[in-house]
Amino acid sequence: MERYTGVIDKYRERLPVAPQTRAVSLNEGATPLVELENLPRLLRRNVRIYAKFEGLNPTGSFKDRGMTMAVTQAVAAGARAIICASTGNTSAAAAAYAARAGIACFVLIPEGKIALGKLSQAMMHGSVVIQIRGNFDDGMRLVQEVAKTAPVNIVNSINPYRLQGQKTIAFEVIEALGDAPDYHALPVGNAGNITAHWIGYSEAVCESTDACAFCAGKCEFRKTKIATRRPIMLGYQASGAAPIVRGRPVESPETVATAIRIGNPVSWQQALAAQKESGGWFAECSDEEILRVQKLLAESEGIFCEPASATGLAGVLKDLELGRIGEGSSIVVTLTGHGLKDPDTAIAHSAKPLTVDAELPAIERVIREHLKR
Ligand code: F0G
Repeated sequence: MERYTGVIDKYRERLPVAPQTRAVSLNEGATPLVELENLPRLLRRNVRIYAKFEGLNPTGSFKDRGMTMAVTQAVAAGARAIICASTGNTSAAAAAYAARAGIACFVLIPEGKIALGKLSQAMMHGSVVIQIRGNFDDGMRLVQEVAKTAPVNIVNSINPYRLQGQKTIAFEVIEALGDAPDYHALPVGNAGNITAHWIGYSEAVCESTDACAFCAGKCEFRKTKIATRRPIMLGYQASGAAPIVRGRPVESPETVATAIRIGNPVSWQQALAAQKESGGWFAECSDEEILRVQKLLAESEGIFCEPASATGLAGVLKDLELGRIGEGSSIVVTLTGHGLKDPDTAIAHSAKPLTVDAELPAIERVIREHLKR
């Protein structure tokens, strides 16, 4: 078997990358699709729920799939610097892939509003971290303005190569299940990822040999049909940052799920198209629901995802309860980022560690007390 070297090498024929272009990669992708075994039983639901655990990518989120494409193309085009606005994960991925490529990286983050793990990644990989007194939407606007004059390449998801990389998640799900699931659920912030999922699923059922719209005839994706159908797409937002659910931008978005603390998503229209074409819907979850499901998943399945990632599963559990998702369904939930990204939130919402004397009876007492419960 050939050594796995990331999504570009694996899916090159389905991506707009020239055959001779060397991929800037950290062997991202090939993440596990874990079937949840205990949750459906606990909830007494006859459904199959699979978690696509994107937290196991090299920098701990799905952003790596898109960043390998964006940075590979930036380098191929001769760029010497990249820039992004971020709620944390994009900056972590940009910083790491820029380091790999040996180019400069500038990241704009909302001051005080990104999780500690993500901040440490951007700093550790040597990017220039610019904290702005504003939110993600302000950062996004500034990045687009500065890129008009400064020699920097934007690697936010308005860069179409990002979505091309991220679409590979759909191919992996299809390979693992043999076909598309009934439903695919995920959290929605800037709305690039749901757009990318839909591109992937749509290409998977396409047999056309025409050059694709994306490359305008310059590349030819291999169009081999690998699925017989597309899933119904379910997008979930945090209640304090739910512009798509409400149908209007949110001026000052607020949520514990800082990764999706976004009030005016760039890919809003594409996300709506994915929802409509798939027959799906958008819905919201409160911060309490998000934190409860993050904990439930960690305690009942051994999977630790960050709060934003739990939003997708929280939405699915709610819609199962409401009967919007029927019995017997197969559901894939993208768990977008690792729980270790945000240790502060995890610690704040868990039981405090016990402190006892370093003596045998003390430990025995704790065990006895616990097992009595
Ligand atoms: N989940 C996580 C963990 C994220 O980091 C993001 C986005 C999303 C979900 C939403 O994905 O924006 O494509 O709809 N994070 C971006 C960032 C905005 O800067 O890291 P989306």
